[in-house]
Amino acid sequence: MPRLRLGFLASHGGSNVQAIVDACKGGDLDAEPRVVISNNRDSQVLERARAENIPWFHLSSRTHPEPEELDAAVLAALTEHDVDTVILAGYMKKLGPRTLERYRKRVLNIHPALLPKHGGQGMYGIKVHEAVLAAGDEVSGATIHLADEEYDRGPILAQAEVRVEPDDTPETLAARVLEVEHLLYVDTLRRISRGELALS
Ligand code: GRF
Repeated sequence: MPRLRLGFLASHGGSNVQAIVDACKGGDLDAEPRVVISNNRDSQVLERARAENIPWFHLSSRTHPEPEELDAAVLAALTEHDVDTVILAGYMKKLGPRTLERYRKRVLNIHPALLPKHGGQGMYGIKVHEAVLAAGDEVSGATIHLADEEYDRGPILAQAEVRVEPDDTPETLAARVLEVEHLLYVDTLRRISRGELALS
């Protein structure tokens, strides 16, 4: 039985999901991907799930117009696949209150900057890296934190730094931060699986 049973929620590319799945397959991480959920039916992350033979669900306000129903459907998908740790990886929606309650302190999120800087509502994707460059920061990076009811809040579990280069554009910075995100997510989950990092 693997130490961690992972449920992923992602909206777009899913490169972080892929990095974690690859680590599980390669024996670098004692965890098992159990289910992938996306609010975006056409997302690459769902293609990845199909390619990897991981159960997947498209669950969104289209499939479930009532927020309570969507919350219940997400929670059911996670519990029915015996998930014990929820991985948010570029998930553009908030989890519902029932899911958060059931998985309190078991939901991880990644943010492509050094929180508490450059986080919060509306700070996502390329906007984060634009804000880092506009602020003249010399260092950016990635943050993994426990997710709660607010965007990008919750206790910080791990951070990794990336130097901002003088000729960086938001796109070049985003690409280097994304590489670090993949390593940081796998490393953080490994530390959790080994009992080196406690979530409670
Ligand atoms: C990452 O930069 C993550 O930090 C942010 O969304 C992006 C997702 O990338 N929350 P991917 O879908 O894992 O490729």
